Amino acid sequence: MIISGTTRTLGLIGNPVEHTLSPVIHNTISELMSDGSAMKCVYVPFHVEEKLGDAVKGAHALNILGMNVTVPHKQDVMEYLSSVDDAAAVIGAVNTLVREENGYRGLNTDAEGISRELDFYGIEIEGKTVLMLGAGGASKAVAYALAKKNAGKVYICNRTLAKAQQIADCVNAHFGRDCMSAMTYEKISEIEEDELVAIQCTSVGLSPRDDECVIPDGDIFDKIAVGVDLVYKPAQTQFMKYLRAHGKPAYNGLRMLLYQGIAAYEHFTGDKVPQEVCEIAARRLEMAAGIRRPIILCGYMGSGKSTVARELSRKLGIPVIDTDERIVKTQGKSINDIFAQQGETAFRDMETELIKELIREEAGGIISLGGGMVLREENRKLLRALGPVVFLEASPEVIYKRVSGNSDRPLLAGDDLMGKIESMLKIRTPLYKDAAGICVDTDGINAAAVAECIINKLM
Ligand code: S3P
Repeated sequence: MIISGTTRTLGLIGNPVEHTLSPVIHNTISELMSDGSAMKCVYVPFHVEEKLGDAVKGAHALNILGMNVTVPHKQDVMEYLSSVDDAAAVIGAVNTLVREENGYRGLNTDAEGISRELDFYGIEIEGKTVLMLGAGGASKAVAYALAKKNAGKVYICNRTLAKAQQIADCVNAHFGRDCMSAMTYEKISEIEEDELVAIQCTSVGLSPRDDECVIPDGDIFDKIAVGVDLVYKPAQTQFMKYLRAHGKPAYNGLRMLLYQGIAAYEHFTGDKVPQEVCEIAARRLEMAAGIRRPIILCGYMGSGKSTVARELSRKLGIPVIDTDERIVKTQGKSINDIFAQQGETAFRDMETELIKELIREEAGGIISLGGGMVLREENRKLLRALGPVVFLEASPEVIYKRVSGNSDRPLLAGDDLMGKIESMLKIRTPLYKDAAGICVDTDGINAAAVAECIINKLM
């Protein structure tokens, strides 16, 4: 990143700050957005011990554009600000300082972080019953976000009832609704509702205590429809393993970390961070956190997924999983035979099952998806838990040239190949784009160049 006279400074104040991942988020965004008219920024950690007020005042005097605040200053910083937004006032903590003429305005983007994570994974909250585990630091932001999303009922479960009660009372009072209630873990089995959304807000299960979970495996997991663990290291926590063993989708909290940063960046600069930049920042964040996930390639038949996967494999020295090949191997018959004997729906079920298996086994490497993998909404959601998805886009003409003369694809058999390609692409292109955060136009470039482009974005 080139720092010039117009580069603006962003930062983090806290103690300690050495472990922080925030510079990865903000500097990635800034690097990727600095081509256009967006503001150019650099983000640095500042170790602040006692002189918090001096630090905030000094930052303003130095024309620092915005800051994040972390422990132990999230509450104390409030007395040095020109104003505080609604979320921060209710949550009682500030994590973002946005520059105003006479000082900084304090915001809390943690609630926005979890809210955007829930949106990303397609987890609906409105009218739903939510089970929150834990009433510690992050819980109030989560409770605030849930109330704002109009949750029907929220059970806040904690060892010490009074702490859960305090959050429930505070959020209920603020929103003028009685949706939050407190309970201890012993009472969990008395919850009558099912289809719960569960959010694990404690630090139990955080590496190196990988095999611990705040609640034991049991019937409650059958009542949960989907779960999020705010812990993101390990990438698959014990809580998530229990959920997945009960057949339920489960996600970690890396996206909350990402989105609280992205929201802060947007408040600092006024620039909207595009989706592709979010996805690249997510990948860099994972790598900085030591989390390894596969790179997934999707696209229409003949878009070059298998060839690009082999190129990536060669360049990065990691293996390829081809979902069609896996299915052919486990079924012991060709795709044509599966379609002819069992029908397309059976094949699609096999695809869904395979994605779930790859998530459970934490598959790595490069995953090349069959062209129809994105058709089911369930699959598109599941893929978000598996890894970053890249859409290899190709024009109907290029695809036509690549697939004509090939008889392995049951959906392209018969007459009017070009017509089939065009009409299927019309339906599928939005689905590929929905599944993938990153899109590479492959027309006119060879597989090696496509692979290079993916490596530049994701590695
Ligand atoms: C299909 C694509 C094929 C294979 C099956 C169905 C599709 O994979 O899964 O024939 O619906 O697009 P490729 O895209 O790898 O050819």
